[in-house]
Amino acid sequence: MSESSIQHRYATSGSSVVRVEGLRHDFGGRTILDIPNWTAHKAEHYLVLGPSGSGKTTLLNILAGLLRPTAGTVSVSEQDIGSLGSGVMDVFRGRHIGIVFQTLHLLSALSVADNLHLARYMAGLPRQDSRVRRVLDDLGLRSLTNARARALSQGEAQRVAIARAVINEPAVILADEPTSALDDANTTQVMNLLYEQAETCGATLIIATHDRRIKDRFTAVLELGARQ
Ligand SMILES: Nc1ncnc2c1ncn2[C@@H]1O[C@H](COP(=O)(O)OP(=O)(O)O)[C@@H](O)[C@H]1O
Ligand SMILES: [Mg+2]
Repeated sequence: MSESSIQHRYATSGSSVVRVEGLRHDFGGRTILDIPNWTAHKAEHYLVLGPSGSGKTTLLNILAGLLRPTAGTVSVSEQDIGSLGSGVMDVFRGRHIGIVFQTLHLLSALSVADNLHLARYMAGLPRQDSRVRRVLDDLGLRSLTNARARALSQGEAQRVAIARAVINEPAVILADEPTSALDDANTTQVMNLLYEQAETCGATLIIATHDRRIKDRFTAVLELGARQ
């Protein structure tokens, strides 16, 4: 079985936002993820690279507290997320972790604005129309404020998913294959929006992809190997 290799392009000194220790995940009787030690620092950009089946989505789900690892600990903003019960974890995730899922999981019957309001509500945050307007403006979505999510094009829906991920000013933004379905021009636009929004929030950006087009501008690459 190949080992996960961690290639830091250069060392960083910022405070740690995500810390992984002794992480292992088994599925179907085999180990699909094995990361002895990994730290992501404040406001830096990380690329989780690896072929299909190498465990990228599994890792992001674990970092988001959506999946409990077989072994090891994960801390986000100094909080050991493994110690949180699921209800508390939901609120913690809503406040500290922004997620752009591979399948976007927008609520299709709700308007674009209401998808964002709901993300604040779920995190126990008060309604704030000005924040929703601001994020929609930043992502070029103002004209779609009242559009139903189901009526959006794929590119528009991708931008709404990014808006929803950043609405609560998270400490970390996780994005799973955000560009795999996009052409080069849209890939550049989506990456620029993710960088801009991460910078605005002061968030750490962790992007999982098999898309080697987007290898630039990352602090470090966490390369997951193919496993047999
Ligand atoms: N719930 C699941 N059902 C089926 N296979 C899974 C499940 N969770 C993990 N796996 C397996 O774990 C491995 C890693 O999957 P995944 O994290 O989706 O990789 P990646 O995102 O890099 O393509 C794959 O071999 C996949 O088949
Ligand atoms: Mg995946």
